[in-house]
Amino acid sequence: MSLKSLKLGLAALAMSTSLASAADVEVLHWWTSGGEAAALNVLKQDLESQGIGWQDMPVAGGGGTQAMTVLRARVTSGNPPTAVQMLGFDITDWAKEGALADLNILAGMEGWDDVVPEALQKFSKYDGKWVSAPVNVHSTNWVWANKAILDELGIEPPQNWDEFVAALEKVKASGKTAIAHGGQAWQDATIFDAVVMATGGPEFYQKAFIDLDEEALGSDTMKESFDRMAVIRSYVDDNFSGRDWNLATAMVINGDAAFQMMGDWAKGEFLNAGKKPDEDFLCFRFPGTQDQVTFNADQFAMFAQGPEVGKEQAALATAILSPSFQSAFNVVKGSVPARTDVPNDDFDACGKKGMVDLKKAADSGNLYGSMAHGHANPAAVKNAMYDVITAHFNGEYDSETAVAELVTAVQINK
Ligand code: GAL
Repeated sequence: MSLKSLKLGLAALAMSTSLASAADVEVLHWWTSGGEAAALNVLKQDLESQGIGWQDMPVAGGGGTQAMTVLRARVTSGNPPTAVQMLGFDITDWAKEGALADLNILAGMEGWDDVVPEALQKFSKYDGKWVSAPVNVHSTNWVWANKAILDELGIEPPQNWDEFVAALEKVKASGKTAIAHGGQAWQDATIFDAVVMATGGPEFYQKAFIDLDEEALGSDTMKESFDRMAVIRSYVDDNFSGRDWNLATAMVINGDAAFQMMGDWAKGEFLNAGKKPDEDFLCFRFPGTQDQVTFNADQFAMFAQGPEVGKEQAALATAILSPSFQSAFNVVKGSVPARTDVPNDDFDACGKKGMVDLKKAADSGNLYGSMAHGHANPAAVKNAMYDVITAHFNGEYDSETAVAELVTAVQINK
């Protein structure tokens, strides 16, 4: 017996003696749209086939802001769910509080360190311990387009800001809505992610959103980014306020609008509606961010239930990390696998592009955590940024005021 297999055997033994008894798994998540629910079903069925029951705890609201509020209430009342969908810095925040289970034995047995990209491990692990199981990698700097509208109006996917504005103008002149958008803070911020990346480039994005550098936050480049948000605002329909993101996607699906700027969970809605990439819809990077990827990864953080990892938690984590699940789930969800060794055979054109883009961006230093989706800075800063971006989008601040407010918001909350 090799040393490695001996170690694995001992680890397996330790797991089997230290795990708590199996129970249902209670999962708090915000996957309530048609495409999201279809993807979640892949996970539910996987567990159910192993005899593990699924107690669903959905909290509607894209981006998970409401889900995180509900989670806080559950933990405060001493009743945390077994597993919780979570993003980036939220995982770190909960790990810091000592609330999450230590998955290291399982991670060691299954070799997670070797297959999960470094950029994700930064959030999956805290203090050297695995505390969550990564499901996917999404990215936020995409544009989704209705192909028939673009063909009819003779519009090619725009490559830069000026071409994009020209395309928006053409759509508006045709009487259709140019941009399908839902006026919710996290959606405004999702667009801002891409606009800042395109306007300032990757180094600026890093300085402003990740390093929280005051000079970058208060710069003319930031003002220009806000000016561009105002341009985008002028191509949104009158009923945008409060609209859910999937209803905005439906506008593109139904041919009422030409474009949506949204993370690749939008693709899940197109697929769920029976639409095909390159035939019915197009996916391309936000003009000016062709080489960059702003990512967010959904993970299931496991809440500690005592000194031992629950059997159902271990089963959930194992199911999530399995290569076949990573393929089956992400094909439906619109995201790409959270492991580097999953074949791309079952992915459509947008999924294959997503996988290539992610690898290229990671290899060339062009992969950045999404501010809008909790991977650039902690929730306190993110939420303060949301407030400023949304106030500006709704015309409460001009661009100059927005820049000043952004600087102050970060100063107070970082
Ligand atoms: C993101 C999440 C995605 C998708 C989206 C809209 O934060 O990472 O999986 O669910 O919100 O709900």
